[in-house]
This record gives sequence, structure tokens and C-alpha cells, in this order.
Amino acid sequence: MLVRYITKNKIKIITKNISYLERLYFMCGIVGYVGKKNCLPLLINGLNKLEYRGYDSAGIAVFKDNDIKITKTVGRIRDLDDIIDYNDSSCIGIGHTRWATHGGAVTVNAHPHRQGDIVIVHNGIIENYLELKDILLENNYKFSSETDTEVACAYIDYLYKKNKDMISVLEQCTRDFIGSYAMAIMVCSDNDKIYVIKKDSPLVIGSCEGENYIASSTNAFSNDIDRYIILDDYDYGYIDEKDIAIYNNGILQTKEYVRFNSADDVCDKKGYKHYMLKEINEQGDIIKKLNDKYLNNLGELIDISRFNEIHIIGCGSAYHAGIIGKYLIEENNGINVSVYIASEYRYQKINYRDNTLVIAISQSGETADTIACLKKARSNGIYTLGIVNVKDSTISRIVDEVIYTEAGNEIAVATTKGYLTQVYILTLLSIKLIKDNTVFIEELKRVPSIIDNLINLDYNDLVKDIWKDKDIFYIGRNIDYASMLEGALKLKEISYIHAECYAAGELKHGTISLIEKNTCVVGLITKDNIATKTISNIKEVKARDAYVILIVKDSLGDIISSDCYDKLLLIDSVSDIIEPMISVIPLQLIAYNVALINNCDIDKPRNLAKSVTVE
Ligand code: F6R
Repeated sequence: MLVRYITKNKIKIITKNISYLERLYFMCGIVGYVGKKNCLPLLINGLNKLEYRGYDSAGIAVFKDNDIKITKTVGRIRDLDDIIDYNDSSCIGIGHTRWATHGGAVTVNAHPHRQGDIVIVHNGIIENYLELKDILLENNYKFSSETDTEVACAYIDYLYKKNKDMISVLEQCTRDFIGSYAMAIMVCSDNDKIYVIKKDSPLVIGSCEGENYIASSTNAFSNDIDRYIILDDYDYGYIDEKDIAIYNNGILQTKEYVRFNSADDVCDKKGYKHYMLKEINEQGDIIKKLNDKYLNNLGELIDISRFNEIHIIGCGSAYHAGIIGKYLIEENNGINVSVYIASEYRYQKINYRDNTLVIAISQSGETADTIACLKKARSNGIYTLGIVNVKDSTISRIVDEVIYTEAGNEIAVATTKGYLTQVYILTLLSIKLIKDNTVFIEELKRVPSIIDNLINLDYNDLVKDIWKDKDIFYIGRNIDYASMLEGALKLKEISYIHAECYAAGELKHGTISLIEKNTCVVGLITKDNIATKTISNIKEVKARDAYVILIVKDSLGDIISSDCYDKLLLIDSVSDIIEPMISVIPLQLIAYNVALINNCDIDKPRNLAKSVTVE
């Protein structure tokens, strides 16, 4: 029997101890509302706030005239908004942005889905949907989409027809669904509630007087919300106008509320043309704020020298930050550091040695592969540290220790301030171990103004000869190579120009065959002891008539002869340890300006989603 026990602020909690399955997916967005207001503008507003995550279709469902009305379309939220009938005022509804996984980006695959009495929106993947589909086909269900979600919807309807208690239906689903799911569910005959169920995809419930909201991220919350709860895996239940009832394994849960501070600035470009440009421009202030917090308090940070070995894991830019971390820690602290792409590490045979530290780097704190690696490390008894931006994200909650990068909300899909603050924290961890680190601390204090000055240079002029190119090469050695990996990724993702990064000395082992007249090569030279080596590599491509943009540390300017480059950008000289925080700024702005001239959708590049990638 289910005992319902609800107090104003708390719901009884008894957490079921179920080990995580290793997979986690979410790239879509969920919103839901129950209250007294017309939910249509609230749903659209919530979906707009989730737009940055990347999606290709969107839809909503609301109770209307004893039925549920679904409106959905491929395209943007504005396309959905165009077809919504705002006369259909309703106080309960759910909405969704979909990033296609099972089935193409067509309206029939968009959410919400309906089967019988049930309407759902879903983030995640039901991996055993084909088995469930067989059962449903035998029971005369018909399907119009290719999605696993429609199957899940039909399965809920199938169970509900046998047992009219949705709470026990959802409990059954936590046993029968394999995969990941955050779902918001409406039932035709139950028009004052939205049901929820969650595993491995985030779902939060926000509240204020007389209203409850569901969302896949607090970013979608209305500013009216003052508190929220975070659902755990295998939680299920419902919200109505007054109450939230969440169960786990048949037991009503008590959840602590987290205070919600209005997400006012989440969707404000503050006058900038793009979020990416705004976020690039915020970097100086963020580093200043972090300096104020840490430079006199390095002792507060974890002492990584107590470990014999370090594994750093991450995806994309976070992986690149990890490579910077490897160079910093190995060169200055002598600890062996291995950096792994999370999607490789999770399936790789790892021979853990005694006293290993695993550092997971993630802006969102929700990346599926990175989470899987952490679970792997933890199940081997390894101490884990998260370097994470988003507070209360999954990674921040499953690691032994977390350092927040405090970059603030990052809306542009391509990370800039997220990456820079990851590099900053790794720099601090490394500097902390250097006995006389005064010079580095002093240089860190200069970084905010150096960043601001670099941002104000004319990048439009720097890229005016390359914005039409089809292939661009990025080269550097050592830590510059790591920075160039990030530079090349930035260009690829937002301008769609093929960019390839090579360790400068590696080019002649094959790839130099691609260099011909006017092929653009961007070179980065900031390390004193190997500057001449990189210059030689630059000369090799120049000898093949490449078009060269050189970014060089000011103090090395004298050794660069004018036959080495077509464009030269001198950047401020700081120690090798600090330089990666400086050299990434022009790389971000080269990518931004090339994408701008090419009229690309800079904040939402095609095919990409913010936060989390599927496995
Ligand atoms: C690139 C970018 C991605 C992310 C990667 C990891 O600009 O943003 O490569 O760095 O998807 O995401 P997080 O850091 O959220 O784990």
C-alpha cells in the first residue's frame, strides 16, 4: 500500500539503494507547469530558456476540454509559437525540445507523444524499446513514429489500462524500462496532475505558492520560483497545484528543498550580438573574481601531491583543458598524469595503481561518458575530484570532492569561459605545489586586464583572408599544442570550417602533403625553450606557400622574422604556466569572427547540443 505523506516543505525520503546503470543521455529539454495561470506562455518561456542546449523540434501538450491537445513542429521555438492557439488557455501543460536520436528530425517524431490516455515528453533513451514494442504490437498498439518514446508512452498506457493507479504503473516502469529517462506524463482522465519518472537524466521540480513546475534544468524555471527539489534515479510521482509526491521503490520520499535564485540573466545577451561574445567578454571579470577567492587561499584547494598518479578525464574542450593540466602538473610537480577522452576511458582496461586520483572535468557536470568514468573509478575505490561549473549537477554530486569553476551560466553551445575557468583551476592546483610561487600569483593578478586588452583587438582584420577557407591547420608544441587543439575545435564547431590541429613537429610525418599555396596554418609560439623548433616547422609550411597567422608571445617577437608569417599577433608575455589562459583568447575570437563573417548560427551550431552528448 502506498502511504502519502506530504508536508509543506518536505516529503519523506528513504532512498533506495540501486546501483546506477552506466548510461546517461539527455540532450533534449523538458518543462511542465501546474497552477492557476495560463501555462502556454510559461511553457514557451521555459522552452526558450532551454533553447541553447540544441534541438531540432519542439512541442507542447495542455489539458483542454476534457482532452489533451498536442501542438508540435520541427524547427525552432518561434515556429512552435507561431502555430500555438493562445485561446486554448490551460493551467496544466508540458513541453519539450527534442534533439533527434531514434528517428529523424520530423514532426511525427517530435514530443509530446500520445498513446491511448497517456501523453509524454521524454529525455533519454529506452534501450529495450524494441522488446517492449513487441509486447505492445501483440496487444494491438499501433505506432506512427520511429521513437523509443512513443513505445514508452504506449507501455505506460498498456499498464495503466490494467491498473488505474499511475503511481504503481510508474513503479512498474522503473523495473521494466532499461536505459535513461526523465519523463513528464499527462493522463487524460487525471486532469489536475503531471506525473514524473526519472533515471539517469536530470529532472527538477520548482515551486512557489500555488504553482509547481517541472524542468530538465533549473535554467528553464520561471523567476517566480523560489525553491526546487532534485529528483534521484528511480524516483517517480506527481505534481499538482499544491503538492509534490515523489516515491522511490514504493516509498514516499522526503526531499530537501534547494533555494532558487532567479535565473534572470540566463537569457540576456547584455547587448552583445551573441552569447558566445558575451561569454568571451566576461572572462576577465570571472578570473578576477576567482583570483579574489583563491590567490590568498590556495591552501583550501586539494593537495594533489598526495597522489602517486592522476587520471584526467573529459570530453571535447574539457579534455583539452585536461591536456593543459597534464603539462602543468607534470612539468611543475613531477606527478604522472594521463589524460583520457571519457568515451574511451569508460570501456578501456585501466590498471589502477595505489593512490590514484581521477579528475573529471565538465562544464555541465552532466556529460554521460564522464559520469560513466567516475562510476568506474569509484567502483575501483579511486578518489575522485570534479572540476565542474554547474552547481548540484550529477558530477558534482557523485565525486568525492568538487571544485566549482564559477564561470556562471554558459549559454553558447561552444564553451569559452567554461574552458578557461577549467584551465584556471588546473593552474591553481599546479601552482599550489610550487614552493616559491609568488611570481605566478602576481602574473595571475594581471591576467584579467590582459584578457580584456586581447579581446579588444581587431580580429576581423586578422581573419579577413581566411574566412572563406575550407581547411585550416593549427599547430604548436607542448602546451601550445594543447591550446591549439581547443582553437581548432572552436573554429570547427561554430564556423563549420575543417580545422585540424597538429603537434608542430608531427606535420612533416604525413600531413604536410596537404599544405599547398595559401593553405592557412595558424601557429602558436609561447614556450621559450622550444620556440625555435616551432619556428622551423612554420618555415617548413611557409616554404610550401602556406598562408600563416602566427600568435607569438611578445618576448619572443624578436626571433620571428617577417618571412615566417602573413599576419602576426603578439600576445602578452607571462610564464609558461599562465600563458594558456592568455593564448586561448585570440583563438576564441578568430573562431568567432570567422563564423560571424560566414553568417553562422554561432550560439547554436548545427548538430550540436549543450551540456551532454549521447554515448
Ligand atoms: C566545445 C564544447 C564541448 C564540451 C564537451 C564536454 O565547445 O563545449 O566539446 O566541452 O561536450 O562538455 P562538459 O564540459 O559539459 O562535460
